[in-house]
Formats: sequence, C-alpha cells, structure tokens
Amino acid sequence: MEPSTGSTVRADGLVRAFGAGTERLTAVDDVSLEIAGGSVVALTGPSGSGKSTLLHLIGAIERADRGRLTVDDVEVTALRRAALARYRQRVGFVFQRYHLLPALTVLDNVIAPVLPLRAGRADHPARARELLAAVGLARRERALPAQLSGGQQQRVAIARALMGRPRLLLADEPTGNLDSTTGAQILDLLLDLRDQHGMTILLATHERAVAARCDRLIRLGDGRIVEDVDLTDGEDPADTFDRATRLRL
Ligand SMILES: Nc1ncnc2c1ncn2[C@@H]1O[C@H](COP(=O)(O)OP(=O)(O)O)[C@@H](O)[C@H]1O
Ligand SMILES: [Mg+2]
Repeated sequence: MEPSTGSTVRADGLVRAFGAGTERLTAVDDVSLEIAGGSVVALTGPSGSGKSTLLHLIGAIERADRGRLTVDDVEVTALRRAALARYRQRVGFVFQRYHLLPALTVLDNVIAPVLPLRAGRADHPARARELLAAVGLARRERALPAQLSGGQQQRVAIARALMGRPRLLLADEPTGNLDSTTGAQILDLLLDLRDQHGMTILLATHERAVAARCDRLIRLGDGRIVEDVDLTDGEDPADTFDRATRLRL
C-alpha cells in the first residue's frame, strides 16, 4: 500500500454548543490545538467532557459555532457543502460500536463508503480485499457482521475507514467495547497502519493502557483542554507500564 504523510490539524478557538437559554451547554469550549502530521494522539477526559463533539468537529460531521479548523492547507470551517462533503470523504472515522451494516457482507461493508463514487469503481473490490488482508480478515470477506467477534467487527470498521485513503483517522473510543487484550490488538493495528500509511490518528479513549501507547495525550474537562502531554519525550515507546502509571486516567 502506498505511503503518504499524515494530515496536520490546527484548531483555533473551536466552540460548539447545544441547546438554548438555561439549557445551553458548551460541549467544546474554545479549543485550540495543533497536531503534527503522522502523530497518534489520545483524547481523554470524563464522559461528557466533549471528546466525541471535538472529533465530530474535526471530521466535519458537525459544524463549529465559532473558531477555525484547518487541516493541511484546507480551512475546513470555511468550506461550503460540496467541498465539505469531499473533505469528509477523505477523513476516516471509526466508532465505538462499529456501525457496520448488518445485511451487508464484510467486503460490501468495506466498499460501502465509496459506492457513490464513480472514480475507481472497478478497483474497489480489490482495494477492499487488500485492506481486509491488512486488518487480518482476508478470509472473512463473505461473512456477515453478526458472525464476527467484536474485535473482528472493529477491524472491518477500520478497513472501511481506510477505503478513502485518509490521511487523518478519527476514532471515537475504538476499543471501548472490547476486552483489554482485543483492545490492545486493535491499537497495535492502528499503530501499524500509521507506520505504513503515515496517517495522523486522533482517538478518544478512557483506557489508560491505550492512551499510554500514543504519542501525545490531550485531556478535556468541560469542553476545554486541561492537560496536553507529549508522551514520546525520548523514552522507549515499549515501556507503556511506566507511561501508564504517570497518566492519571
Ligand atoms: N447532539 C447533542 N445535543 C445536545 N447535547 C449534546 C449533543 N452532543 C453532545 N451533547 C452534550 O455535550 C457534552 C459533551 O458530549 P460529548 O462530546 O459526547 O462528550 P464525551 O464524548 O467526552 O463523553 C455532553 O454534556 C453532552 O450531553
Ligand atoms: Mg463520547
């Protein structure tokens, strides 16, 4: 598979609020950050702290009320509908509950996001098979999601997210429904994919063992960044136990 470089992400004063009047709640409250291309960043913080909303803003699933989001040289917050749809096509998104289509085979689930695209249509099955092989599911392409374990379903969802050749992969608690061993394997896979494709990965997680293996940890509290730590600072990336104990998760 072709190497590429991961996207750089820059947010300036992003705000997203829900509701009105006394019910108004600022889910993402003036978030500014810069993420280097090719890094793997853990987004942590208690439930309700704004992790999902921030991922949705960066993936343009939701629009910011205020602030600016720039991904590579694209000012996402200034895009209009058609350009926004094209931007979304180029971002990979992985969800906690996989969101596979139950009536479609594994292969068709992987192809699904590019079905509306004419370009390269003849190559889609081959590309999907290549991705299924990359996530270790080459032999299950004809299975239905319900016939797979949770970890396997998440692998299918990851293959699907990669179909559009994203340079940015957003993952919302991708190991949240999995036991710790399976979760660790999913993280191994994401880190391998980053190394092979040079993607930037931003993942929300509650799990200390997952966050500890990322390059950087950003903690949210009430929609704001309350901690931002570089976890690489020259130490052995394999020494996750030490890192995990340093992280108050
Ligand atoms: N669509 C929505 N409508 C109303 N409130 C929302 C909506 N999405 C999120 N919220 C609220 O915004 C806050 C942040 O939520 P969320 O981003 O899901 O946090 P997290 O992913 O960290 O648990 C929460 O208080 C949540 O209830
Ligand atoms: Mg969430």
